[in-house]
Order: sequence, then C-alpha cells, then structure tokens
Amino acid sequence: MTELSRALRDAVAALRAGQLVGLPTETVYGLAADARNPQAVARIFAAKGRPANHPLIVHLASAEQLDDWAREIPDAARQLAAAFWPGPLTLILKRQPDVPDAVTGGQDTVGLRVPAHPVAHALLAAFGGGLAAPSANRFGRISPTTADHVREELGNAVAVVVDGGECEVGIESTIVDLSRGVPVMLRPGRVSIDDMRRVLGAPVLTPDAADTTAPRASGTLASHYAPATPVRLLDVPALYATVVAAAQSGQRIGVLSRTLTDAAPANGSVWLQLPGDPAGYARRLYGDLRRLDQCGATLLLIEAPPTSPEWQAVNDRLKRAAADRPAEGEGLPKP
Ligand code: TXA
Ligand code: MG
Repeated sequence: MTELSRALRDAVAALRAGQLVGLPTETVYGLAADARNPQAVARIFAAKGRPANHPLIVHLASAEQLDDWAREIPDAARQLAAAFWPGPLTLILKRQPDVPDAVTGGQDTVGLRVPAHPVAHALLAAFGGGLAAPSANRFGRISPTTADHVREELGNAVAVVVDGGECEVGIESTIVDLSRGVPVMLRPGRVSIDDMRRVLGAPVLTPDAADTTAPRASGTLASHYAPATPVRLLDVPALYATVVAAAQSGQRIGVLSRTLTDAAPANGSVWLQLPGDPAGYARRLYGDLRRLDQCGATLLLIEAPPTSPEWQAVNDRLKRAAADRPAEGEGLPKP
C-alpha cells in the first residue's frame, strides 16, 4: 500500500468518524468534514476560530451530485459547471432543505464545488458524500498551499492531512452566486468574470453592480488573508525608496517584488521575487507571504501588480492583505 493510499484510507475513516481532514485541492488546502454531519461541521468552526454564521463550501466528486444539494438550479449554473468543473469555481445555489444549517450558516443557499485536484477527487470518490471545507487556515489568516502549512495552522485539530503537494492555482476559487436571477461574482479567482461571460453569453455582475444585499462571505471581509506583519502595497518608485530608507534606518523588512530586482536588502531583510505572469504569481503568493511573515520583519512591502483584468484575483488578495493597516506613511521609515 502506498503512502497516499494509506492516507486516503485513514482520511475516509476519520471523516466517517466525524473528524477533520486536511484536503488538498488545486486552489488551496481545505479543512474538510462530512457535510451531512453537523457535529463534524461544528468542529471546523472550532478549529478555525471562525464565526458560526459563515457558510462553508461543499465539495463534491462530480456535477452529477448537484441536485442532491441544490434546488431550482438555473441553466446558467449547469453551463458553468459543464465548462469549469472539475475546477476552481464555486457556485452559490438555493439549497436542498436537508442541507445542515451548520454548513450554510442558516442561509437558504449552499456553495458547491467539484475540485480538479486528483487527490481531492480520489478522497471525495472514496468517501462518497459531500465534504464541507473552508480553507485550512485559522480565521483571517493566509490560506495554506502545502500540507505543512495545514499542520502549522491547525496542528492536532486535524486527524489526517492528505499530502497532495503544492497547490497549482494557489488562491481560492472564484465564487459566483446564481441564486438571485442574475449571476453575481462574489470572489474573483482563476476563473475570471470574462471566462464566465463567454460561456453564458450574458452579463455576470460584481457585488457593487448588483443592487441587492450580498450574502455573508468571509472572503469578502476587508482584512481577510492577512499576514500578522503589517503589509504595504506600493508602486515601484515608492517601494524602492522605502527599501533604501529601511536599509539606512536598520529596519528589517520583507519584500515581495515582481519587476524590481536590484535594491539590495540589508539588516536581515528578505527579498522574494514573484513570477511576472498572474497565474505563476498567484501560485506562489501565499507561500511567499507566509515565509515573509515568519522572517522577523517589522513590515512587508509588496510591489503592486498591474491593474488589468487578468490581475483582478491577485489584486483582490493583495488589497485584503494590506487592509486595516497603518494609514499612509505610518510605520514606514521616511524615504
Ligand atoms: O478554493 C476554495 O474555495 C477553497 C478550497 C478549499 O475549496 N475554499 C475556500 O473556503 O476558500 P473558505 O471558507 O475559506 O471560503 C469560502 C467562501 C467564504 O467566503 C464563504 O462565506 C463563501 O465561500 N460561501 C460559502 N457558502 C456561501 C453561501 N451559501 N453564500 C455566500 N457565500 C458563501
Ligand atoms: Mg478562507
């Protein structure tokens, strides 16, 4: 028996016993529990320190299980599922009445996703049912993209962490709400709003354009996905000036750069270079933020990527990482 098949066997046993499992997916690692078992789902909230009214995504082995979880499924949902599943897209749909309130946060909708990761698929197929799984980080922290990150975040709260390697997408799935008549993208991800528009041949709105109250989505809180160290998002000239000032003042900083390469860090500062393309950047982003957060720096500087549409999901995460931080200039060495 290989290590993976042993881990899968142990994971299925743990899930059936109402315990939590670290689930590798193509986006980020999930903290999974049997979605039909409210006590098991309650353990997710306890382990994460997450407010109980925040709904969870239910992961399925195949789109054929859609009707077990959702009702009044619009054609648009079937089209998006056919185009992007298995893959990094979560559909919000009206729920079947027997979906536990613990999963939906008491809302009349449920989030559903068929992940593309082969190990996730193997676990879901072996388990047979739906797995409720938020990202496997403590509430408000950076999502894990390796099995080691999950152990670091949650330790003994997880019975088994199934190691599926490093996540290929690296940021959380796109979320689109199809429960309101017109599709509304609640969270940007690898599947873009234009990708969805092309498949549907119809508009997909953003929450600010949709004239209705947004459902609760913790990924939409301003300061979500934040490292413990303060983060500043800067253009190249400001980044360069701040690096120079930090070197002069003896401050240790962490830098996440994309194009700037030649500002030598000092004082034990750590400089990480991310790829120039949005997919490559997203894949490495959380792992690198986590490294910088642990390097003993008092401030993390991130070179702001372009604002073009293909960078929307990355910019969304960076904006949140830098949110609720000292106001302009505070905590910064003077350039
Ligand atoms: O890529 C992903 O989506 C990862 C992997 C593990 O699948 N999961 C993930 O879960 O990011 P989480 O809980 O960290 O984020 C799920 C988001 C939350 O913002 C939650 O509020 C929202 O989905 N959500 C879930 N069900 C919802 C519903 N019925 N209505 C509105 N938002 C919902
Ligand atoms: Mg999360």
